[in-house]
Amino acid sequence: MVKTTLSVIKADIGSLAGHHVAPPQLLDVARQELAKAKREGLIEDFYVTRVGDDLELIMTHRKGEESEEIHTLAWETFKRAADVARGLGLYGAGQDLLSDAFSGNLRGMGPGYAEIEIEERPAEPVVVFMADKTEPGAFNLPVFRMFADPFNTAGLVIAPKLHRGFTFEVMDVHEGKVVELSTPEEMYDLLALIGSPERYVIRRVYTREEPRDVAAAVSTTRLNLIAGKYVGKDDPVAIVRAQSKFPALGEVLEPFAFPHLVAGWMRGSHNGPLMPVGEADARPSRFDGPPRVVALGFNVKDSKLIGPSDLFADVAFERARRLANEIADYMRRHGPFMPHRLGPGEMEYTTLPQVLEKLKDRFREA
Ligand code: F6R
Ligand code: MG
Ligand code: MG
Repeated sequence: MVKTTLSVIKADIGSLAGHHVAPPQLLDVARQELAKAKREGLIEDFYVTRVGDDLELIMTHRKGEESEEIHTLAWETFKRAADVARGLGLYGAGQDLLSDAFSGNLRGMGPGYAEIEIEERPAEPVVVFMADKTEPGAFNLPVFRMFADPFNTAGLVIAPKLHRGFTFEVMDVHEGKVVELSTPEEMYDLLALIGSPERYVIRRVYTREEPRDVAAAVSTTRLNLIAGKYVGKDDPVAIVRAQSKFPALGEVLEPFAFPHLVAGWMRGSHNGPLMPVGEADARPSRFDGPPRVVALGFNVKDSKLIGPSDLFADVAFERARRLANEIADYMRRHGPFMPHRLGPGEMEYTTLPQVLEKLKDRFREA
């Protein structure tokens, strides 16, 4: 059976009026490039959007994960968009294209990506999540709840196909290592790791029910670790399969009704609530935020994308948005104090080393 690959690849290659929103001109270039690739048979289908300052390429194809041709297509598309961004004088033009030495794989090059290769079910519902002003670990809490929390996902308790639980692949982004843990048995070990989302990031989820099948994938690039200095936040993307042997669509979305605190607001250095919004509202402007997440629902059929449905545009997420705004007010009142500002180890734009250097001779024994 022919397999389909869904690739979601994103980069911040320039935005309007600050780190705010990728304008239509950039989306147009991306659409032109991907339409050409579709005509030429390289990809089967695509959808282009933006979430805040990130340009998002959602593509289906038959080249598998980590395909050189697909990654090159994305890279070239971003480069063309970056040229347009420079021409328009957009802010941060070309920002996430870290290297001139692209050699066929996006790993370590700046853009983030999540990919799954699947044997399509007769009906293949998927949700593509795209976040801005946060980091890959922001998906730890919601992905854990989708696949391991019986208070979120009723199916874990009452649907025979979900009852065995799921296997999580967790990446230590400092060491570049991964470990697999299965729930419910290893739930506490899993939480011990992923409760520190700046270091341990859920990268993939698989069914435990045989045959083992991919259920979710999250982008795990960390730009700051790659570049060795702050070059922008690794705003993450994720793909989650829904229904039948996977959580129901509503179980996949339910965790986002709670706007949990994530790192990445203003200068990549503040915690704030993750606000679920429709595509139209993915234009963070208050204190460069608060962090946003968009969810688009598709069906994949014969490698074509049917949809999307703009899932967080639902009025049922209005209370989550209102709560997020209240939490945003509360957090902002802390100004430069933790826990609004991140801890010293995580501060990505920081004058702390300079301050310590300046004061080093004035420190004396207490
Ligand atoms: C970027 C971001 C922003 C910037 C801030 C300062 O995605 O989160 O909060 O960090 O706008 O940007 P610069 O230093 O480019 O002026
Ligand atoms: Mg961004
Ligand atoms: Mg940015």
